[in-house]
Amino acid sequence: MSPFDLTRTLPADAMSAALRADVREGLTHDPKQLPPKWFYDAQGSELFEEITRLPEYYPTRAEREILEERAKTIADITRARTLVELGSGSSEKTRLLIDALGTPLTYIPVDVSESALNGAGRALLADHPGLTVHALVADFQRGLELSPTPGPRLVAFLGGTIGNLLPEERAAFLASARAMLAPEDTFLLGTDLVKDEATLVAAYDDAQGVTAAFNKNVLTVIDRELGADFDPADFDHLALWDRENEWIEMRLRARRDLTVKVPALDLTADFAAGEEMRTEVSAKFREEGIRAELAAAGMRLRHWWTDRKGRFALSLASPASPEG
Ligand code: AVJ
Repeated sequence: MSPFDLTRTLPADAMSAALRADVREGLTHDPKQLPPKWFYDAQGSELFEEITRLPEYYPTRAEREILEERAKTIADITRARTLVELGSGSSEKTRLLIDALGTPLTYIPVDVSESALNGAGRALLADHPGLTVHALVADFQRGLELSPTPGPRLVAFLGGTIGNLLPEERAAFLASARAMLAPEDTFLLGTDLVKDEATLVAAYDDAQGVTAAFNKNVLTVIDRELGADFDPADFDHLALWDRENEWIEMRLRARRDLTVKVPALDLTADFAAGEEMRTEVSAKFREEGIRAELAAAGMRLRHWWTDRKGRFALSLASPASPEG
């Protein structure tokens, strides 16, 4: 049996069908909006990796600090023999968990990007004899069918990506994560935390303009995939802190009156000068909120770890017993 296999649960055209539906819905919505998952083509994924190295973008470094500090403890508590990672991307921080858990170990990275899964899976195998990788091309927002693997299982969702989900989507996601857990299994969640506005806004509006390029890249994706004629230069990048909802919003603001054609959808969209289109929500959290959201999904918060500066948290949760 090969130590690496890859399963596609998405039909080959599911991604483009979803993109078309999202772009049609988003450009006809008032106000206009696009979901953040379409940032991540090859160029966008590269720009995101660049963001993680920016001085202003602290979440990646803060989460790595926690994992460096706590991976051994997480391994001791969970005793996991299977690690499921949702939205695994480059799997870079996951190495810390894999090293701590030790082999034999089954690693199930789940991502919508087949190329990311292939690259990351094979790189890990090269230096981890005893590791079995079952890569899964899937949209983790849709609930997963996992093949039986040794337990206990640790299901991880790192990077603060849960912040991209709106509150109702978050509740549905947490419920489907809960549904993956047997009584002995655990759930590890990375969340960025509420902090002063200046720090938050700088993390999403860096001085070098990398985040601006990342934001505008979604227009390039739509141009390429749907034949649209967006010119990224017609838009300004905005990052603002919504203190009511406690989330960062990224937007693109039209610099002039525009009409954009999207031939694949047989659609045109008019933008007035100054009109803003939301491209991402990145929610920030507090311990009590996380505890409550986990409880609502049938999980109990067992451990809460932050980096030394208290910017980012890792939560370890387990299924709530019938009594809670
Ligand atoms: C990958 C979703 C965690 O929300 O901070 C980075 C994406 N957007 N800069 C985040 C992102 C703008 C990032 N996540």
